[in-house]
Amino acid sequence: MKLGDISRTLAASCENSDDFDELVVSNNDVVLRNIAEDLRNRLPIEAMFTSEHQAVQKIHQHPLPMIHVDAFLYDDDVVDSLCEEGKMSRSYCTECGSYKTASLEFISHSFSLMELKFLYHHVLPDLTGKVVVDVGSRLGAVLFAGYLYSSASQLYGVEMNADFCQLQEIMITKYEFIDRVKVVHADICTQPSLLQKADVVVMNNVFEYFLDRQEQARAWEFIACNVRKRGSLLVTVPSLEESLSKLQTDVQLSQWVEEVQLNYDVYMEKDVDREALEQIHLYKIL
Ligand SMILES: C[S@@+](CC[C@H](N)C(=O)[O-])C[C@H]1O[C@@H](n2cnc3c(N)ncnc32)[C@H](O)[C@@H]1O
Repeated sequence: MKLGDISRTLAASCENSDDFDELVVSNNDVVLRNIAEDLRNRLPIEAMFTSEHQAVQKIHQHPLPMIHVDAFLYDDDVVDSLCEEGKMSRSYCTECGSYKTASLEFISHSFSLMELKFLYHHVLPDLTGKVVVDVGSRLGAVLFAGYLYSSASQLYGVEMNADFCQLQEIMITKYEFIDRVKVVHADICTQPSLLQKADVVVMNNVFEYFLDRQEQARAWEFIACNVRKRGSLLVTVPSLEESLSKLQTDVQLSQWVEEVQLNYDVYMEKDVDREALEQIHLYKIL
């Protein structure tokens, strides 16, 4: 059954429009969870492809042990079950054979369902007729959530990894998102016109683990040159200040953007992770 048919069936069984809205929202959560489960079954547990040499290398250079847990694919309940089955661990032994253990640092390459709901329900305004570009779209989580939780007219993902582009294409076809979602297999630095026409640009930790410092600096300068539409919005994780502080660039933040303060208390659902939400920053282009 298509999403539209499901909505019509639900509408017919609801007595008032508030009940209907609530049902559609929770139905969209169910669709996103199904997509996550589908993707889990198509990927290794660390949700990375061997084609991601640079990212794999960077993570091995990290001083403390880190574990890849893609937050879109594995929520806390799924992680708990995997730990119980012995397939995943939240800690590592610092002195083999002793009881001294330390918590593993978790790294996610996607937004979680909670972050996606916060993004589309509380961070961004009504997106009717707007163009959204997700820079580094990976599994497509931002695009699929944008299809389900917003009225954006077009959602573009730009992803440089061919394996992830292929996976996104499979999901777009299977879940019938093709009318509003498109994936471009490219380095973002070859896509000036797409960035120039975007009303919203999303950048979730795009470059840090995937490019060396010089490439990151060049990519940020390209973004700052081309995300220029006055009044358009830029969502970043972490803040622009934090990303740029480690790099040598010509980007003049105060002449490019103005930060919009977010209210992180508005997300009231039980799965809230305040620390993760506080990493999300919103900017208006000047
Ligand atoms: C942390 S993931 C972001 C995932 C997704 N946007 C989300 O929020 O769920 C970053 C992705 O950016 C891609 N990437 C890094 N540099 C890129 C570039 N210059 N052009 C296009 N994609 C890039 C990586 O391959 C990786 O899949």
